[in-house]
Amino acid sequence: MKRLFRIAVIGLMVALAGACASKQAVTPAIPQDKDVEAKVEKVLKNMTLKEKAGQLVQLSIVTVEDDTHEALDPAKLDKIIGEYKVGSILNVMHDAAHTREQTAAMIRQIQDKSMELLGIPCIYGLDMIHGASYLIEGSLYPQEINLGATFNREYARMMGEAMAYETRAAQCPWVFSPVMDLGRDPRWPRQWESWGEDPYLQAEMARVETVAIQGDDPNHIGLEKAAVSIKHYMGYGVPLSGKDRTPAYIAENDLREKYFRPFKECFQAGALTAMVNSASINGIPTHANTLLLTGWVKEQLGWDGMLVTDWADIDNLYTRDHVAADKREAVAMGINAGIDMIMDPYDPECVNVIVDLAEKGDIPMSRLDDAVRRVLRLKVRLGLFENPTWEYDYPDFACERFAKESYAAAVESEVLLKNEGVLPLKGTERILVTGPNANSLRALNGGWSYRWQGAADEFVPQYNTILEAVQKRFSRVTYVPGVEYIEIPMAWQYDKATGIAKAAAAARAADVVVCCVGENSYCETPGNMDDLNLSANQKDLVKALAATGKPIILVLNEGRPRIIGDIEPMAKAVVDVMLPSNYGGDALAALLAGDENFSGKLPFTYPKHINSLHTYDYKVSEHREVMAGSYNYDAVMDVQWPFGHGLSYTSFAYSDLNVDRISFKAGDVLKVSVKVTNTGDRAGKEAVLLYSSDLVASLIPDVKRLRGFEKIELQPGESKVVTFELPANELAFVGADGRWRLEKGDFRLAIGGLGVQVNCTETKVWNEPNI
Ligand code: BGC
Repeated sequence: MKRLFRIAVIGLMVALAGACASKQAVTPAIPQDKDVEAKVEKVLKNMTLKEKAGQLVQLSIVTVEDDTHEALDPAKLDKIIGEYKVGSILNVMHDAAHTREQTAAMIRQIQDKSMELLGIPCIYGLDMIHGASYLIEGSLYPQEINLGATFNREYARMMGEAMAYETRAAQCPWVFSPVMDLGRDPRWPRQWESWGEDPYLQAEMARVETVAIQGDDPNHIGLEKAAVSIKHYMGYGVPLSGKDRTPAYIAENDLREKYFRPFKECFQAGALTAMVNSASINGIPTHANTLLLTGWVKEQLGWDGMLVTDWADIDNLYTRDHVAADKREAVAMGINAGIDMIMDPYDPECVNVIVDLAEKGDIPMSRLDDAVRRVLRLKVRLGLFENPTWEYDYPDFACERFAKESYAAAVESEVLLKNEGVLPLKGTERILVTGPNANSLRALNGGWSYRWQGAADEFVPQYNTILEAVQKRFSRVTYVPGVEYIEIPMAWQYDKATGIAKAAAAARAADVVVCCVGENSYCETPGNMDDLNLSANQKDLVKALAATGKPIILVLNEGRPRIIGDIEPMAKAVVDVMLPSNYGGDALAALLAGDENFSGKLPFTYPKHINSLHTYDYKVSEHREVMAGSYNYDAVMDVQWPFGHGLSYTSFAYSDLNVDRISFKAGDVLKVSVKVTNTGDRAGKEAVLLYSSDLVASLIPDVKRLRGFEKIELQPGESKVVTFELPANELAFVGADGRWRLEKGDFRLAIGGLGVQVNCTETKVWNEPNI
C-alpha cells in the first residue's frame, strides 16, 4: 500500500511538472543537432534491455582494479563491461592522482574493452576541481572560493580551459566541475568548493568556466575540451545542521531566485551533465525530486543533457532517507524522478535491478529510453564513438602559461582584510614565520588536490610553502611552528601545541611575526565540525605571540571563515589567503613585500560571532541599521568583515555615478556608470561592484543584491569610467507564488558608496524561463 502511494505521489509530481511545462513553448537549452540525434537513435535501436540498463550505471574504478591498486584486472574488466555492460567509470585508483600517462593508459584499456565487447564507448569521469587536480603533473589553480575573490571572470575562463585541455590530454572526456553550490553557510565543509555566497557572482563565474571547459558548441566537443558536470543540483550548501549531506530547508522563492540561478545559467550555456545534490530540500531527497529534476530542468528549460547521481545516493534513498524500502524501490524512484545515470560506485548488480524494474513496468520503457538517449547523446556529442581514444598532441600540457595564470590568480585572490601600517614589509626586518599552516602545501591547496582529502606535499614538493616562499623573498627569516596538525587519518583537522613558548621566544628576537593559521585540508563529510572558532591551540599561539608586543601579520589559510573575533585585535594586519594552491605561498610573499598589490575581495561574509552567521543579502527587517520598527530590536549586523571587503596598498575614489534613465520599465536596460580614480601612489586593481536595493516590495526585500562586477587596473592618478548594462528584469524577485515579479516603485543603485534612486513605472510578472 505504502509503495503504491509513493509511486502515485511520484506520478502526480511528474504530471504536475508536465502540466506546468506544457503551458510554455520551450526553447531547448541546448540546440538539437540532427546528426547527433540520428546517431543516438541508430545506436539505441539495436540495444538489448541489459545494454540499455548498463548505460545507466556508473561504477568506481575500484571495481576493476587489481590487488596492487595500480593496474586494472582484465578479468574484472571483462565482467563489468562484458557481463554487466556498464557504461561509465569514475575516480582514481588508490585514492590518489596518477600521472597523465598512467591515467591515459588505464582509460585506453577500458575504452578498448568497451568497444570490443559493447561497441559503445565508456565515459570516464574525474573530479577535476581546481584545474587538472587529479593528475600529478596537472596545472592546479586556486580553488573556486579564491577565484570568486578575484571578481575577475578571466580566471574562471583560464582555469576551465586548462582543466579541459589537461584532462583530455589524459584521455578523460568528463570533469565533475564546476561546483556552484552557494557557499552561504561557513559551517558547511564545502564552502570553499564554490565561488562564494552570492548567486550572481556564482552564476557568472560558473557559466564562464562551463563554456571554457566545453567550448561554445555543446553538440561537438573538441579534443581540447571536455564535458562538465555542474554540481550539485541544488541547495546542497545550506544544510540546517551545517553538516555535509544533511537536510536543507529553503523557501520556494529563494530556491528559484538564488539557488537555481547559477544552474540555470549553465544549463542554458550548454552544460552537458549535472550531478544531483546528495541531500534533501524541504523533506524531499533531491534524487527523488521529480519537480526539480524533470520539471524545472528537463521540461521548463528544455534541457536534453544527462543527470548523474552523486556517490551512492540512490542507496541513500533507502539506507539513509527512508523514503524507499529497498534498493529496487530506490532505483525506480530515482530514475522515474529524472535520474539518467546512477553513480553506484561498488554495485554492478544495479544493472540487473534496472532490467527487472523495466521488465515489470516499474520504470516505463519510455523513461528508460529517454535516460539511455541522454547518456548516448553525451557520448556522441563528445565524439567518443568516432574517437573512443585519441592520438592528439597536447604541447601546452603543464605549460609555463598555466603556471603563470595560477600565480596571477593567487595574487588577485588573497584578501588583505586589515592593515595598520605594517604592510608592505620593508624587507630588512627579522621575520618569524610560525603557525601550523606555515609549511604545508597540503593546507595551501585544500581538498581535491592529488587526493580527495588533499595531499600536495606528498606529490609536488617542488612548489613553495608559505615558509619557503618567504625564505626565498626575505633574508632574515626564522621558523618555529608552535602548533602542528596531527597526522592521524580523518583527524587531521585537529592540531597540537608543539612549542608555543618557543614560538613566543622566537618572536621576541624578531621584528615582525607572520603567523599562519587556519585549517588543514579536508573535503566533504570529514570536514564536518562542531565549532567554527579557530582552534584553541591556534588562538593560544596568537595570544602568546601578541604578549611579546611584536607586530603580528595574521595569515588565514582556510576553506571557510573560522571565527577569530577575540584574536583579530591582536593582529596589525590580516590576510585571508583561503586556498590559493601551489603558487599561493609565492603570491603571499610577493604581496607582503609589496612586489605585488592586493586586489582580492571577500566573496562571503566573514562572521564574528558563532550565533551570527549572515549573508550580505539579508532581509531589511533583520537588522537595526536598516529597519525602524516598533520594538527595540537588538539585531545588529556585527560581522568581522562584510562581503566585498578587501584592502589595497593604494586607494580608489569613486565619483560621477550616473544612470541613463531615472524611470524604467520591464525589458529596459539601464546603463549605470561610475568613475574610479587611483588616488594612491601605486598601481592597483579594483573590483567595481554594482548593487541594487528594492526599497518597497510585496515580499520583504533583501537589503541589497550584487548586480554587476568588473575588475579594472589603474596606474597612480589614472581614472576609468566603468559602465554596467543592467537589464531591468534583473531587479525582479520571485514572489510567494513562484513567479518572477518586477514591481513598480523605487530602487537604489549603489557603487563604491555612491547611490542613485531610480523608479520602475510598471509591475510585470512572468514564469521561469523568464521573458
Ligand atoms: C562528491 C562529489 C564527487 C563525487 C565523485 C561525491 O562524494 O560529493 O562532489 O563528484 O563524490 O567523486
